Amino acid sequence: MIKRILTGGAALAVLGIGGFAIYAWHPAIDEIAPPSADSFPEAQIEKGRQLASAGYCASCHTSADGAAYAGNYPMETDFGTIYSTNITPDPETGIGTWSLAAFERAMREGIDRDGAHLFPAFPFDHFAKMTDEDIAALYAYLMSSVEPVKATHTENDLPFPLNQRFLQAGWKMLYFDKGQYEPETDQSEAWNRGAYLVEGVTHCGACHTPRNAFGAEIATQQFAGAAIDNWIAPALTSDNPSAVAWNKDAFFQYMKTGTTTYQGSAAGPMAPVVHAGLKDLPDEDLLAIATYLGDQVGADDMAPMSNPAVEKSLAAGAPQADYRKEEGERLYATACAACHYNSVQIAEGRPDLGINSAVRLDDPTNLVHVILDGVHADQGMEGVVMPGYRSALDDQQIASIAAYLRDSRTDKAPWVDLEQTVTEIRAQGALAH
Ligand code: HEC
Ligand code: HEC
Ligand code: HEC
Repeated sequence: MIKRILTGGAALAVLGIGGFAIYAWHPAIDEIAPPSADSFPEAQIEKGRQLASAGYCASCHTSADGAAYAGNYPMETDFGTIYSTNITPDPETGIGTWSLAAFERAMREGIDRDGAHLFPAFPFDHFAKMTDEDIAALYAYLMSSVEPVKATHTENDLPFPLNQRFLQAGWKMLYFDKGQYEPETDQSEAWNRGAYLVEGVTHCGACHTPRNAFGAEIATQQFAGAAIDNWIAPALTSDNPSAVAWNKDAFFQYMKTGTTTYQGSAAGPMAPVVHAGLKDLPDEDLLAIATYLGDQVGADDMAPMSNPAVEKSLAAGAPQADYRKEEGERLYATACAACHYNSVQIAEGRPDLGINSAVRLDDPTNLVHVILDGVHADQGMEGVVMPGYRSALDDQQIASIAAYLRDSRTDKAPWVDLEQTVTEIRAQGALAH
């Protein structure tokens, strides 16, 4: 009896594996002769160029010293390093012989021309939401305007069995919601356009939504905030820590200029999103994204200056009779106050630190990054610079400034192990930008 059950179980398992193999298998799509550049209309190519910026294709498909779109950009995951592929129209090492159907299948299903499953380090789970028209425009742009470059793919550094591509079919079965964006009929056209762009090509959730142990975004925690590339991407919901809540106008200002008067600047991994990714999108699209995200936060258009947290922050900045009492306060007065002290109103370009997300997050990471490396001309507000203090202040001094800001300007719990955090972040080195 027991044997029968056992063999029955084994047979079922074999059937299961067989069924999975059939499910996981996809045919190759025939190669084509590379299409000529003039086979695509100008307007379609231009649209594809905008979408390629908004999808940060070049950021992930260009290595530090490599040609644009030629791949081999290393993506560190919890499981190992994955190298992006060459998506220039080179017929041998790029996608020159891919038909639109093959390209579309990659974008919609994460399957390459040969039929192999692609890893979700490539955000096809977002690109799948795009319209046929937008995917065709991306294809037109890549095939006609990107220089074909011969560059062979570096082997991924993933342990067995994670390197087995067919297993990705299981991941897709569990976590991949196939299908284009479906408009919500009770929302405005702008809201739906914003949702389409955010969930699709610009994939904000890839950084702002926490992931589970298998690297999939947790659908029930959309935009709840997450750690990414050793920075914190704050929540884009009512849980955002900024003292003056984000609303439609603030989101628009941030995406358009890289900074807002009351919330913060786009530094670290967010800087290229604004300055390279979104910069070519028309204002209506940025307004649409702002409409959608404003609704996620659900804030009113409250007058910022009557906010008690703003009052507390401004009062804490008022010059003291004697700054020598405490080290953090003294260093702040010497190194920061010249640019960050506001009196009765907050001027653009002079962030008031008690209301800034970097000072209010549960994790001091972003504040420490900014003190170590500043905000470069191509980050935050364009052309405006905050100096970095990597070589001027030691770990203990930076920790004492951070502790002082947190304590004097917010009602949040003190950060623990600050000095240790500064040491760790310093050791990561400055982000290339
Ligand atoms: C977050 C990083 C990231 C972004 C952004 C990104 N890609 Fe990729 N892409 C990858 C990685 C990594 C792979 C390889 C995955 C693998 O080997 O399984 C890949 C693979 C691909 C492939 C399959 C190519 C092949 O030879 O198999 C195509 C096509 C592609 N990307 C197009 C795009 C386009 C178009 C955009 C912009 C709209 C884009 N990617 C944006 C990381 C990215
Ligand atoms: C590559 C990862 C990444 C992507 C993609 C990304 N973000 Fe961010 N975002 C971050 C990080 C990291 C920060 C923190 C930057 C800082 O404090 O200077 C941030 C900060 C922000 C902030 C400021 C939040 C605050 O309270 O200070 C907003 C608003 C924002 N992102 C919106 C977006 C939108 C909208 C998109 C999609 C169009 C997007 N992000 C895509 C990583 C990302
Ligand atoms: C020379 C002027 C100057 C000095 C000195 C300065 N800052 Fe800044 N800081 C700025 C400007 C300007 C910005 C906004 C930059 C932008 O948007 O491009 C900024 C931004 C910031 C931000 C917001 C970053 C974000 O991602 O939202 C923090 C936090 C900050 N500074 C902290 C400090 C601290 C702490 C010190 C002292 C150790 C300091 N600053 C010294 C000018 C300065």
